[in-house]
Amino acid sequence: MKTQDAVVFITGASRGLGLAFARECVRRGARKVYAGVRTPNGSNTPGIEQVPIDVTNPASIMAAASKCGDTTMLINNAGIARITGSMLDSATIDVTREVFETNYYGTIRVSQAFASILATNGGGAMINVLSDAVWHARPFLAGYSASKSAEWSFTNALRIELRSQKTLVLGLHVSFIDTDLTKGFDMKKIEPRQVAEAALDGVEAGKEEVLVDDFTRQVKRSLGEEQSIYLNPPDIG
Ligand SMILES: NC(=O)c1ccc[n+]([C@@H]2O[C@H](COP(=O)([O-])OP(=O)(O)OC[C@H]3O[C@@H](n4cnc5c(N)ncnc54)[C@H](OP(=O)(O)O)[C@@H]3O)[C@@H](O)[C@H]2O)c1
Repeated sequence: MKTQDAVVFITGASRGLGLAFARECVRRGARKVYAGVRTPNGSNTPGIEQVPIDVTNPASIMAAASKCGDTTMLINNAGIARITGSMLDSATIDVTREVFETNYYGTIRVSQAFASILATNGGGAMINVLSDAVWHARPFLAGYSASKSAEWSFTNALRIELRSQKTLVLGLHVSFIDTDLTKGFDMKKIEPRQVAEAALDGVEAGKEEVLVDDFTRQVKRSLGEEQSIYLNPPDIG
């Protein structure tokens, strides 16, 4: 589907990749862009309408869905990461639960609320923002990686289910992006605008999976090798 004339709803659009998605959708001529934000700040960017949504709060999701019944493209972008010192740390379970609540259950809740809206409006598309971490668990982001692997699995099942209502479900995989989430991480990062462009190009080409950068492509390719990257990761990346 084309972004031009689409009505796009993006979760986590206050900053980072979500905001880049909102701007790129406007640039491509979307008819309407709903920027889902936890705390509307009265920002008045032409073409972008802020809508309150917290993906951990079912009532706020239902309110957003009933307000935005003309949505034709949903971007499940809201996400959090928490650094864990060690998988053996006593805080690991609480931290992992917190991350799952947003990244995994949040994505499920929002998808459930918007799936019938997409169907009513002709099928449309859903982009789920995943990661290379789906296939490569870095110890300091282990809880985050687990949540993204779970979100990937959900995305794969949902894709098959929503084909019958003609909704394209695209899994977006990318390594580190230059946003607040990676502030202080000393590694190569890609610009959020480039990620949004690659994802929307993918939707427009009818793709079900987009691997944005070389490292992510390398990680996925290595799954078929005996020494996959998740077994022997590079020092950085
Ligand atoms: N940065 C990376 O290296 C990287 C790599 C791969 C994938 N990703 C994924 O990309 C997506 C966007 O991340 P980002 O890098 O742009 O991070 P970010 O700059 O930290 O932005 C996160 C966004 O998610 C929102 N959010 C957090 N919890 C929420 C909740 N409960 N309900 C609604 N919104 C919530 C935040 O809203 P507030 O402003 O209210 O906090 C913010 O808009 C995430 O799914 C992340 O896992 C990021």
